[in-house]
Amino acid sequence: MNSFLQEHKRSIVIKGGIRLKGTVKIQGSKNASLPIMAATLLTIQECVLQNCPRISDIYHMLEILELLGAKVQWQKRGLVICNPQTVLCDLSGPQVRTMRSSMFLLGALLARSGKVCMNYPGGCVIGSRPMNIHLEALEQMGARFLYKEEKLCAEVPGGFHGSDITLPFPSVGATENIILAGVLAKGRTRVFGGAKEPEIVSLCEFLTACGAKITGAGTDLLSIEGVESLHGCSFCLPTDRIVAGTYAYAVAATGGEAFLERAPIGHMEAPLTILEKMGAELQRTMDGLYVQGPERIHGIGYLKTKVYPGFPTDLQSIALASLMTATEMTVIEEGIFDNRFAVAKELEKMGGRPLLLDKTVACIDPVQSLYGTGVEAKDLRGGAALVLAGLMASGETRVYGVDYIERGYENICRDIRELGGVIYLSGE
Ligand code: EPU
Repeated sequence: MNSFLQEHKRSIVIKGGIRLKGTVKIQGSKNASLPIMAATLLTIQECVLQNCPRISDIYHMLEILELLGAKVQWQKRGLVICNPQTVLCDLSGPQVRTMRSSMFLLGALLARSGKVCMNYPGGCVIGSRPMNIHLEALEQMGARFLYKEEKLCAEVPGGFHGSDITLPFPSVGATENIILAGVLAKGRTRVFGGAKEPEIVSLCEFLTACGAKITGAGTDLLSIEGVESLHGCSFCLPTDRIVAGTYAYAVAATGGEAFLERAPIGHMEAPLTILEKMGAELQRTMDGLYVQGPERIHGIGYLKTKVYPGFPTDLQSIALASLMTATEMTVIEEGIFDNRFAVAKELEKMGGRPLLLDKTVACIDPVQSLYGTGVEAKDLRGGAALVLAGLMASGETRVYGVDYIERGYENICRDIRELGGVIYLSGE
């Protein structure tokens, strides 16, 4: 069977209407792992990454690293990556098109080999995802782009040099590419107005453990003093704040009660505050998060996604689905991406009323209840939101497009079953 038919056959089947109850352990963070995997290219010594999630985006990144000459192995002590003396710098095959995170290879390979030729990164379709901020910053540090139309071909004769860079927008990926370029550059790089997401801090912690000199990660002024070389290290990745948020909202939206073990509550303040406004009772503990859902989710009036520490865009679809049967209307404004409401059409098929006022604003006119039907994930977080809607709905929901969900969730069916949900993967 060809892969298209195979994927359309695979679905997550959910019997809805059950309050989630129990304890679930939160997996390692996707968006912390991926740039760190690219960062291992900056040393020829062994790097061991503990708590790396086993998701398809990670497997794709491993394939790319192997293509470049790395030896990778999952061992008991973690994911072990050993990069070679000479890495290949040609990535013009199809691999990089499968995910956005191949963007990190631009900074890492230029820093390591002085040149790169690669396809533009792909990834979930959630709006236009240009690379202009990345390219301009790397150019300021000495990169010359020979070609930037369909492909990106660049070199940095003599290696990167430090620079003062002011970003027009705090792009997460661009900030990460500058860090990757800056740690082995000649002199000091300062980033003004960079991203402050916890994943930036994790990348800097990893690189610091490898011998890099970085200060101010997670603040308005990030400063990197270039060093001669980096060494290997063993590093434990943080747990995933978006997966933890997904499950916290799912528990609340089903009126359940559960403990999310190792939820990184220190990095979840905005989504947790919103969840409390929705009527959930929360207890933030040393080991995780206790969530008790209300009888019915409260409408919250207005919610806008913002850069960290604001409400994360990656939880926007999840919040949208949770609010479908709320007590009152809510308007959600997407403040980061320009087309991240693809899930709205699918929620309509389940009886929801998410009215799109334009491409970035949705007004939720709440309904009494959702009903199960066949729906299709169009992107990773939208897919998880449909699983959540299926848990809230009466009857059976089938979510197609499982590949998207598997990009970021290790095993969403297993995790929801831990919480007493009736859910399984069908068609394999
Ligand atoms: N932007 C530009 N030019 C650029 C770069 C970004 O205009 O050169 C714009 C984008 O078009 C977008 C906004 O800036 O409108 C934010 O993009 P950003 O660069 O911050 O996002 P990213 O680095 O591509 C990462 C995560 C996303 C997450 C965003 C925002 C990874 C691998 N991806 O993407 O995660 O939504 O930051 O927090 O870290 C997900 O996990 O589902 C996901 C999409």
